Amino acid sequence: MSKNKIRFGVIGPGGAGRSRVMRLVQSTPSVEVVAAADTNDACITQLEASLGYGVEHLTARSGYKKLIDQLDVDAVGVFSPHTLHYEHAKYALEAGKHVLIEKPMVCGVGNALETARIAAEKDLVYLIHYQRHFAAKYYTVRQLIKRGTIGEVKSFFVYMAQDWSGRAWRGDPRYSGGGQLNDSGSHYQDILLWMTDLLPKSAEGSADYYYQGEKKRVPINGSFNVELSNGAAGRLIILGDYIHGFHEDIRIMGDKGTLFYQGEKLMLVKPGKPAVEIPLSVPKNYPECPADNFGRLLTGRTKNNYVPPIFGARVALLTDTILEAAATGKKIDCAKLLKKSGYDMSVLST
Ligand SMILES: NC(=O)c1ccc[n+]([C@@H]2O[C@H](COP(=O)([O-])OP(=O)(O)OC[C@H]3O[C@@H](n4cnc5c(N)ncnc54)[C@H](O)[C@@H]3O)[C@@H](O)[C@H]2O)c1
Repeated sequence: MSKNKIRFGVIGPGGAGRSRVMRLVQSTPSVEVVAAADTNDACITQLEASLGYGVEHLTARSGYKKLIDQLDVDAVGVFSPHTLHYEHAKYALEAGKHVLIEKPMVCGVGNALETARIAAEKDLVYLIHYQRHFAAKYYTVRQLIKRGTIGEVKSFFVYMAQDWSGRAWRGDPRYSGGGQLNDSGSHYQDILLWMTDLLPKSAEGSADYYYQGEKKRVPINGSFNVELSNGAAGRLIILGDYIHGFHEDIRIMGDKGTLFYQGEKLMLVKPGKPAVEIPLSVPKNYPECPADNFGRLLTGRTKNNYVPPIFGARVALLTDTILEAAATGKKIDCAKLLKKSGYDMSVLST
């Protein structure tokens, strides 16, 4: 894109949206926010306060269509509640707009793949806000696994707990798309698949709807045995019924060693040897965050999209699988589930 100014539209400038937009305009000053679509006008006013200038306000439920069709935007940010991502992203991509989208990219693996296909056909930037792809803590593990430091991945333990009560739309089944399993849980499904570079094969487990003894309308907690495409099997635990704060524990075991974190330190244990700390790093000039990566792509400062839609589609399949496993009490085969949307697993390989 060789224009001096990039005209940007915001769909859903709530807490995350405002923060992503500010990172985008700070890292790519040629981005000019021209309009925002939000059913709550106060959120657009708050966005203007952060930006220090005014934008066009679109507050109708269909406001995003006017933003995309009539305001000559080059790119949009989709930061709306989860189940709305599909209609917002699809409409923007079909109209030829580049899209920065919050996680989970799009609910439902069939919908996720459809939006990925449109972006590819139209040669558009479509980038997911999985910020862990830019953090040395996680990036280093992906590189070590790629280099064969722990050999073939055999097992894993991915655990996250957060005080998550499902407030506002997050607790409403119409917008949440799977409660905490699909909210912060989306990050940890992504971390598992992205760090190991494997596809999900099956999942079995359960979820419950309890937060501090009160039954909610969306899943709050889940524990699953997950199999990956190379036969590795391990545990994915996502909790919302946690007291005050956020906690994670990620361990990846290979046939030549195990990687795990001790606080913010990354540790490697090789068979018969003591654990050693591994320095964390990202390459020089690596983008700082998804918004920075998006801005660099739009201005031709990089050709690399570090969170392309294939990762969103892989996560969507795992999310669909664990939700189905929890709902039915059965072991769910990912390939069979994907087939219901008309795809086979090869579509999820890079
Ligand atoms: N990457 C992260 O770590 C992270 C952190 C927080 C939130 N998020 C993601 O950001 C997104 C938004 O979450 P949030 O915490 O900012 O929620 P939020 O409620 O603060 O923001 C959502 C915004 O969407 C607006 N909205 C609702 N219905 C709409 C509609 N029909 N059309 C247009 N706008 C509509 C709301 O008024 C609100 O301004 C979600 O996808 C969430 O998962 C990601």
